[in-house]
Formats: sequence, structure tokens, C-alpha cells
Amino acid sequence: MGLSMTLAETWVERWEHQQQRYAVSREERFTVIADVVQWTTEGQQSPLVVDLGSGPGSLSTRLSTRLPHAQVVAVDIDPLLLELGRTHTPDAARYVEVLIGQEGWIEALELDRPLDAAVSTTALHYPEPDNLREIYRELAAVLRPGGVLVNGDHLLPEDPALAALTTAVGRHRSLRQEVDEAEDWAAWWAAAGQVPEFADLLAVRARQPAPANGDGNGLSAAQHEQLLREAGFRHTGPVWQYGNSCVLVAVR
Ligand SMILES: C[S@@+](CC[C@H](N)C(=O)[O-])C[C@H]1O[C@@H](n2cnc3c(N)ncnc32)[C@H](O)[C@@H]1O
Repeated sequence: MGLSMTLAETWVERWEHQQQRYAVSREERFTVIADVVQWTTEGQQSPLVVDLGSGPGSLSTRLSTRLPHAQVVAVDIDPLLLELGRTHTPDAARYVEVLIGQEGWIEALELDRPLDAAVSTTALHYPEPDNLREIYRELAAVLRPGGVLVNGDHLLPEDPALAALTTAVGRHRSLRQEVDEAEDWAAWWAAAGQVPEFADLLAVRARQPAPANGDGNGLSAAQHEQLLREAGFRHTGPVWQYGNSCVLVAVR
């Protein structure tokens, strides 16, 4: 049986607050990603976009509000988060459950034409570098020439002194916004574990292959750019940054 809209609404809202802890200026970052997609797809009737590691569809929802003519495919391995998205914003995206990077994952998306954009927030720090290079390669193969990969994540500069400074700048912003008072990731999942309606989805979740490394692959922005170029992207670079919160773009 599906979830109720009230329950989904409550938990998606709680998700948004929780994620705010981890992404400095999260809302602005979503807006910048939508700016890039809009610019790239200007004049197109029905641009095709995938949201990688969509969770409950936070980015997909913003994109579909901003670009209602776009078709968004939200991809994640987490059955609970996907079901929250399907219930809360069923029209924002087509939700697909698959482990990104696993053999056959691109086919599982059932794309009927070349992609215009692949977007992601706070998710591409999970895969290990070799796996990520392959993911970038597979995306490059299905993106149209001129299509973009847009990654909003916490990415640091390579230089340790600058990395520390960048982290400090983001930290100050977080303190000013008082996001530390929000529930954290572990508390959100512990509380979700107490909701009887989530029990079946959480049982499926426990059997799923876990995304590689929640703590992060530790790749700097420059290392992501290197992997993207090796995968066939022609132009790469950041278009926005606040502290370690960054939007990196790669053009096919
Ligand atoms: C921190 S959450 C961010 C979710 C959403 N993009 C947002 O900004 O709120 C990271 C998401 O990426 C998903 N994820 C990480 N690695 C993945 C993989 N290899 N395949 C599918 N989903 C993955 C996780 O299941 C989780 O939902």
C-alpha cells in the first residue's frame, strides 16, 4: 500500500531541513543548477534531464517547477526516499530505483532520446573514483553534444590551506544560518525507523546494495574535472561556489 500525502509531505519537509545542515546555501545551489539547465536547453520543446541520487526529488521538484516542459528522471537506490518523492511530487519526475554505476544502470533509465542534462546534488561524492570515471563515461555517451553534467556538491580545492579556508567560510555561513540546530542524517533515519508505514520500504532498503561510501570519495573539484575530461567532456569548471558548496559544470 502507498504512503499518504500527509505523511510524505511531513517527511519530505523534514528531509529538506536535515539536508540544509550539509549544503551551504542549498536553495541557491538548486537555483544555479536550474539556471544552467535552462540556458543549455533554451528553445527546446521537451528537454530530457536525469537527477542522479535524487533522494525524495528535492532537485527534480525545483527543476520541474522552473522548467515545466522538461522531462525529469529521478534516479536513486533508496526505496523509501523514492516513494516519498513519488507520493509527494508524482508529476515532477519519473522515479527510477537503481544503483548508479552498477552494470546496466543506464539501460534501466529507459531513456528514449539523448539526454540534455544530467544533474545531481550531494550525491556524486559517494562512488569511488574508478567507478565515478566509468559513470561519467556512460553519461557522456548518452548526453547530446552540448549537453551538460551539473554537479552541486561539497567539493574542496586541492591546496590544503585553501581547502581549510574554504571549509571555514562555509562553516561561518552555516553558523549564521543556524543550520546546526536542524536534525542530522542519523537522527532523521532513526526517526524514520519508528514509522510503521515505512517498515516494508525500510526492509527493502536493508537488502539493497549500499551506495559506495557515504563519508565521501574525498575528490577535489579539480579531480572531478580530471575524471570528467577523461570521460570525454570538453569543458569543465565551477560556475558557483560558497564555502565548500560548489556547482561544477561539464559540457559534452
Ligand atoms: C545526501 S542524499 C542527497 C539527495 C538529494 N539529491 C538532495 O539533494 O536532497 C544522497 C542520495 O544519493 C543516493 N545515492 C548515492 N549513491 C548512489 C548510487 N550509486 N546509486 C543510486 N543512488 C545513490 C543516496 O541513496 C541518497 O538518496
